Amino acid sequence: MLKFAMIIGSTRPNRFADIPAKWIVDGATKRDDFTLDVLDLREHPLPFFNEPMPVGYVGGKFSEAAAEAWRHEIGQYDGFIVTAAEYNHAPTGVLKNAFDSASFEWHRKPIAFVGYGGVGGARAIEHLRGIAVELQMAPFSRARRRTIIRISSTRGRPCWTRWYGGEMRSRRRGRLNPGSKNKRAAE
Ligand SMILES: Cc1cc2nc3c(=O)[nH]c(=O)nc-3n(C[C@H](O)[C@H](O)[C@H](O)COP(=O)(O)O)c2cc1C
Repeated sequence: MLKFAMIIGSTRPNRFADIPAKWIVDGATKRDDFTLDVLDLREHPLPFFNEPMPVGYVGGKFSEAAAEAWRHEIGQYDGFIVTAAEYNHAPTGVLKNAFDSASFEWHRKPIAFVGYGGVGGARAIEHLRGIAVELQMAPFSRARRRTIIRISSTRGRPCWTRWYGGEMRSRRRGRLNPGSKNKRAAE
C-alpha cells in the first residue's frame, strides 16, 4: 500500500496549521488505498542548513544527526501532503529548511499542498511548487486553498474558528462555487 506523509509546515505555538492538518487526516482516514503519517516539524527540530556543499553533490549525507534522521524519515514515503502557511508571500522558513534538509529522498515523488492565509496561501504554494520541481518531485497543479480571517472572541482571546474558502463564500452569497462557471456557460 502507498505510504504518504503529511508535513505540518509551521511550528508557531498558536499556529492555524492544526486545523487544516486535522481536516487532511480526517479525509485520509476515509481512504483505504494509502496510509498517511503526520510529520510535525515541531517534533523534528532541524538545524538551519549549514553544510559546506549542497548534499546532492556529495552523496546526500548530512553532517547534522537531526538532518540525517529527517532524510531517512522522508525516504520511507511514497508522497507528501504539506500544510502551507504563507509568511511574507513565501513558505515558512521552517518548511523551506525541511526541504533543504533532505535530497535524493524527495526525488520522483508526488507532493500536494493545502494552503491558507489572506489569499489561501497561493503565493507560498507557487514558491513551493518551484522548490518541489528543483527537488525532482511531481507537484500537483491543483492545490486546496483556504482564505482565513482572524477574529477575536468576545473574551478578547484570538480565535481561528472562521476558515472560509471561495466555495463557502460563494455559497453564502447564493452563487455556485467559482469552479462551476464554465459548467454553467456550457449549459
Ligand atoms: C511572519 C508572518 C508573515 C505573514 N505574511 C503573510 C502574507 O504574506 N500573506 C498572507 O496571506 N498571510 C500572511 N501571514 C498570515 C498567515 O498566513 C497566518 O498568520 C497563518 O495563520 C499562518 O500560519 P500558522 O498559523 O500555521 O503559522 C503572515 C503571518 C506571519 C506570522
